[in-house]
Amino acid sequence: MLNRILADIDPLPDSRVLVGFDKADDAGVYLLDKKTALIQTVDFFTPIIDDPYDFGRISAANALSDIYAMGGVPKTAMNIVAYPMQKLGKDILRAVLSGGIEKLKEAETVLIGGHSIEDDEFKYGLSVTGFVHPQHLYTNKGFRPGDSLILTKPLGTGIINTAIKGGLASPETILKVTDLMAELNKNASEVMKSYPVTACTDITGFGLLGHLAEMVLGTDICVTIESQSVPVLPEALEFAAMGFVPAGAHRNRSFRQEMVKLAPDISPIMRDVLFDPQTSGGLLLGCPAKHAVELKKHLIAKGAQHTAIIGKVDGQGKDIINIV
Ligand code: CO
Ligand code: CO
Ligand code: CO
Repeated sequence: MLNRILADIDPLPDSRVLVGFDKADDAGVYLLDKKTALIQTVDFFTPIIDDPYDFGRISAANALSDIYAMGGVPKTAMNIVAYPMQKLGKDILRAVLSGGIEKLKEAETVLIGGHSIEDDEFKYGLSVTGFVHPQHLYTNKGFRPGDSLILTKPLGTGIINTAIKGGLASPETILKVTDLMAELNKNASEVMKSYPVTACTDITGFGLLGHLAEMVLGTDICVTIESQSVPVLPEALEFAAMGFVPAGAHRNRSFRQEMVKLAPDISPIMRDVLFDPQTSGGLLLGCPAKHAVELKKHLIAKGAQHTAIIGKVDGQGKDIINIV
């Protein structure tokens, strides 16, 4: 949203800015020297699940993910906290921050500070700084005809979180979706560096099709998604059929529907899943088709067990996402 509001305001020009706010990418990137670029990102949100420790893990995994999506290595982090201390007390906050630290340790990222304010509504997240070699930086632009598209986590967390709020999800489903959201994109990011990946982003609030639209827009390519191949949490299909579709999925759809051509046999449920806003979703990346199967196997072997090849980049058309 901020880049749209800032669209006609010129920032200070600086030739060292490799990725600026105008690019609608995952993070900002600033060149330090020939071998090093700084990656900076910030993410925070209101609790999506009841367990404070798990909320901390998820929010940290989500904040770290933008560094991984650029091919970077996170190094330092700062907490961002808005908290109603009178209402919730310090134990809950301690649990949230501890969950965040668990994930930072796993990411080998050091917490070096933070800022907190009193607020009626609890919000928690992190600003994360990392590094990348400028030649191994992945942005959300760069898909080429002949690329296969790979997704490393299943879709449906937004729909399931809506069902959790509605009291309909079983404890097993809550556990499963919590662990999935708390899973770092660290290994997936490391694996992709040994392949000729053309572009990468992580799937978050705009959903698969919203983020894909950002990657396709203005690039003279069109992509085809094979809906049968897209990994989806089975519970998400059930809850979507019952109407537990978050408002964000409808917003994502109305924002990008002109770019999306749905085959007549795509169900409204599948369409909602493809636009479902994800929390700490997987990486979406492109690589030449001849490397895709090997890359997929490698990602699965390194723990991204749901990884699938979900479609391809076609030459014909412009700014079009075909769903077949
Ligand atoms: Co992102
Ligand atoms: Co982000
Ligand atoms: Co990126």
